[in-house]
Amino acid sequence: MSPSVFSSLPTPRPDPIFSIFAEAVAAGPEAINCTAGVLTDEDGQVSLLPSVQRAIADVSAELPKLRFGYPTLLGLPNYRACVHRLLFGETYPWYVSSIATTGGTGALAINLRLMKSLLKSGRLLLPVPAWANHKPPALAANLAVVSVPYISDGAVSMSTLIDQIKREKGDFGLLLQVGCHNPTGLDLTDEQWDGLIDVLREKDCVVLLDSAYQGLKDEPEKDREPIDRFLEAGIPTLITWSAAKNHSIYALRTGLACAVVPDASLVSSIDGHYSRITRQMHSSSATIGQMVVSRTQEAYRDEWLADLRKARTNVSHKRSLMTQSLPASFHAALKGFGMFAMLPLTVEQIRALKKEHNVFMTEDGRINIAGIPNARMVEFCEKVERVI
Ligand SMILES: Cc1ncc(COP(=O)(O)O)c(C=O)c1O
Repeated sequence: MSPSVFSSLPTPRPDPIFSIFAEAVAAGPEAINCTAGVLTDEDGQVSLLPSVQRAIADVSAELPKLRFGYPTLLGLPNYRACVHRLLFGETYPWYVSSIATTGGTGALAINLRLMKSLLKSGRLLLPVPAWANHKPPALAANLAVVSVPYISDGAVSMSTLIDQIKREKGDFGLLLQVGCHNPTGLDLTDEQWDGLIDVLREKDCVVLLDSAYQGLKDEPEKDREPIDRFLEAGIPTLITWSAAKNHSIYALRTGLACAVVPDASLVSSIDGHYSRITRQMHSSSATIGQMVVSRTQEAYRDEWLADLRKARTNVSHKRSLMTQSLPASFHAALKGFGMFAMLPLTVEQIRALKKEHNVFMTEDGRINIAGIPNARMVEFCEKVERVI
């Protein structure tokens, strides 16, 4: 093989979130880093929820006594049961097949591959703007992605999506975010969920619900409501879940993919498909994060709920500080939930923020509000005002 075989590849485009994040880190403590979606403390350090910290201490104390044989392809049963309870409630009437995954991203990769094998058309409707890593794994799963506008006049609008759904002739998939929409922070209202479900009920559709922020909009119990709506309507539903943000264990890469199936006999069939897909990708997922989530849920649940409440209050406080300090033209963009908002800034203004003011965000204007310390919020807003 000629060594030049490697240089025959085109230069890859780096994911801007990672490259701008690296620039912000290199710029040192003066920089305001609004890039990656992590909850940080006043010093800019990644926050660790105290309840999860206790669970980590317990798991760490156990580790020397353990043997590390291969886990089953589906992951640890008690972990999967804990996440099922978070997603569906203490008791639920659904039949659920699930697999522990390498983060919410792994769950997406697996569920998109499952979706591809469920659909004859291979079509996936994707409301945009979407999370930057929704379309790439869908394309990698050989789905044909049809982008449909999610926002109109600064607010969530379902009308173009509903028109598109009505035009679909055969089967199709639809990827939706359950709450704390990334990148806009703007979620569907209850009426919009119901209107959408009414149209989907008449169609041959598989919905993939991405739940990466359960407990960061409202109580986890409340945040799972959109999922219930789809299940009660009998719409075939796949779900991806991430423990990165709501357990503050980004590095442990812990998630779950699941499919809600109409009868018990199908659970083992879909379990088999999940096992086959993960085996092809990277075999089973690492289990430490699964142990941490199970321990948190089994031993420190009340504390965890209190930690999440505190995190939510902190982020919504930042949102109101920002709303008070930025001009009215920014207010619609800040009406949402969770850590993200998309500021109505031009690429030139975003570049000027970086070059002249050490403020780092991706060029679509998405900011992680939770990445800005309270003490620097006024400074951030003043800098934004200077470029507009
Ligand atoms: C909407 C959405 N889905 C999925 C994920 C993936 O989560 P994880 O970091 O666990 O891979 C993220 C992470 O930012 C996200 O914002």
